[in-house]
Amino acid sequence: MIHLNAIPLDYEPRRKIISKLSMQNTWNDVFVLMTEFDTAFLCGALKTFRPKKILEVGVAAGGSTAIILQTLEEIGEAYEMHSVDLNPNFLFEGYTDRPVGFVTTYAKEKFFGKMSGTHKFHIGKILPQIIDEIGSGIDFVIIDTVHRLPGEVLDFIAALPYLADNAVVVLHDVSLHQSEAAEENATGVLFGAVTAEKFLSFQPDEYLFRYPNIAAFKVNEQTAANIENVFLSLILRWNYFPDEQIKIYRQHYRRFYSDALVEIFQDAIDMNAYNFATAQNK
Ligand SMILES: C[S@@+](CC[C@H](N)C(=O)[O-])C[C@H]1O[C@@H](n2cnc3c(N)ncnc32)[C@H](O)[C@@H]1O
Repeated sequence: MIHLNAIPLDYEPRRKIISKLSMQNTWNDVFVLMTEFDTAFLCGALKTFRPKKILEVGVAAGGSTAIILQTLEEIGEAYEMHSVDLNPNFLFEGYTDRPVGFVTTYAKEKFFGKMSGTHKFHIGKILPQIIDEIGSGIDFVIIDTVHRLPGEVLDFIAALPYLADNAVVVLHDVSLHQSEAAEENATGVLFGAVTAEKFLSFQPDEYLFRYPNIAAFKVNEQTAANIENVFLSLILRWNYFPDEQIKIYRQHYRRFYSDALVEIFQDAIDMNAYNFATAQNK
């Protein structure tokens, strides 16, 4: 089932926290890599579903993380949030000396005071390397990492066994392949392939397209039952080959998924490895 415009947009948490942060003279808009519409949808989803255990994968400067924390603080209930990022430093040119999440760290120190929940960074690791420490019962996930296949698809498959019933997953950049490079399609592919209740809200006129660049789905008993469709989406041609990481994902999948699904995953690896190797030799 798809729900259009069912998530109330909430622009306020971003305005509140970013107005404080942007008074610092070193502020740059790239510290939040989501549009105002995107964060309004994300904050609206948080206020609608009121999660207790939140997982964010892909932090960058941490402006969006600070907006999420502001929203959770406005809800005012106890929560546990975990933010995972592979890279120790913010990758944006001109800021590569700053640690990932530096904006969140600053906001926590200067503005949040005593918080109603906890927030922890897990930096320098991919999700399968840290998810046992985070543990199960995750009821809200935000995935915003590579945008290119296999990218976010790998992390959703890794996270699914740790999700609570009816967990909500927010995907960023679900239409980036339309507004930017065609290969930026990983979350769009995942959003299409997954079996779940889906939530989309249309963007206002000032945006290029009505179809949004952020979307959410709510897992149900059909999500795990039909997970083969997500595995099969990895048969598409990959846009990068995560050589070292792929073994870690495969080992992780072996713990939770059938031999048949791991074999399909192996075929996706083999075909893409072949194509990358032959492309390099041309
Ligand atoms: C687009 S940025 C995240 C933007 C952030 N969500 C925001 O709204 O400002 C992508 C981040 O994902 C991280 N990343 C890339 N691959 C990753 C992976 N496999 N696991 C975790 N983080 C990853 C990068 O280091 C980068 O900081």
